[in-house]
Amino acid sequence: MTSGISSGQLSMSPVKAAQAPRRLRHLLSLDDFEKAAAKHLPRPVFGYMVAAAETRHSLRSNREAYARYSFVPRVLVDVSQRSQAVTLFGHSYASPFGLAPLGLSALSAYRGDLVLARAAAEANVPMIMSGSSLIPLEQVAAQSPDVWFQAYLPGDEQNIMALIERVAKAGFRTLVLTVDTQVPPNSENTVRMGFSAPLRPSLRLAWDGLVRPRWLFGTFLRTLLLHGMPHFENNYATRGAPILSASVLRDFSDRGHLNWRHFSLIRQLWKGRLVIKGVLSVQDARIARDAGADGIIVSNHGGRQLDGAVAPLKVLPGIAEACSDIPVMLDGGVRRGTDVLKAVALGARMVFVGRPFGYAAAIGGQAGVRHAIDLLAREVSRDMAMLGIRELDELNASGFICPS
Ligand code: FNR
Repeated sequence: MTSGISSGQLSMSPVKAAQAPRRLRHLLSLDDFEKAAAKHLPRPVFGYMVAAAETRHSLRSNREAYARYSFVPRVLVDVSQRSQAVTLFGHSYASPFGLAPLGLSALSAYRGDLVLARAAAEANVPMIMSGSSLIPLEQVAAQSPDVWFQAYLPGDEQNIMALIERVAKAGFRTLVLTVDTQVPPNSENTVRMGFSAPLRPSLRLAWDGLVRPRWLFGTFLRTLLLHGMPHFENNYATRGAPILSASVLRDFSDRGHLNWRHFSLIRQLWKGRLVIKGVLSVQDARIARDAGADGIIVSNHGGRQLDGAVAPLKVLPGIAEACSDIPVMLDGGVRRGTDVLKAVALGARMVFVGRPFGYAAAIGGQAGVRHAIDLLAREVSRDMAMLGIRELDELNASGFICPS
């Protein structure tokens, strides 16, 4: 498969159309993957992925925030040679977007975390592996050493230290700490879709699986046969609950007491790059930076935690200004090349995309994720041309976007 722009190098325009497998060619934009995933995945699994908290206010406002800005393009600029490459933490990535951490990826896609990591490496974009994943982190690190690892902090210091040690030993160099999950979110919308973690065996669950035979045989039974029952492997230094069980309870240890002291402890223990994810306030961004964070991901968890939490794009400019000495990144609602460019223009070094890449892995495995990455990269490239820029740095100049 070729995209003609995956290297991020200056490329001739128009960009060559990607040779996606025939079965994926009807997927023309990132939003198309959601509709296809709804048909492919069992109701509870799709329900978990699509879910947002409560009235889905934050989910909606994440998208609406992009409409609050419009472009002011420049014309008659020679844009025949363009590059969307971006340097972050000393690595030159092909595009200014990457793959956000998605829990339970190996439930929706066969070997999900490994597939996402391979597609990201192939396209030379960053990928963050979730700590709520079902494949041991050592396997992902061995296959894709450039992947970043995202951890949810265990509740006590001993478990924090053991997890950090395990992640370092596996060879990860970038640790992402997600800090917006003080308590589990309201689960009403996932419960309505029949989801729980672990999933509870029932006639309804069996039916949900049977009516999705491609997923049942191609993902779930194939996983059971070749790798055994998936477990939560990476929330702690030791193995957690299975994904399917009539009685086992998942250990949601209390994180409500965690504070900046724990962050500083991790900063001392972790010798690699430390990124904090889930920051929305300028004050917190400053504290994180002063406490040694190497990067910040402005995020409201895709609208899955506090419903009503502000859209990351709205607070991005203030955080980027306050922390201009470290990379500020963003996720939430990025679906179009124009979204990527607006976020970059407002100060993001890198943006991350969640749900669409998860759907792409479920529907089409590595080729599906690669197709989704290529679609977005081509949009970015095309939009750069119509905006009149050859490199992303040019977006730093004022005047390319204005309030709508
Ligand atoms: C997530 N997200 C997430 N974040 C995190 O730090 N650790 C995790 O394990 C997960 N798991 C997870 C599962 C699923 C199914 C979704 C949809 C999301 C949040 C994710 O990293 C990211 O912040 C949002 O998904 C970004 O929003 P969009 O791109 O999905 O709109």
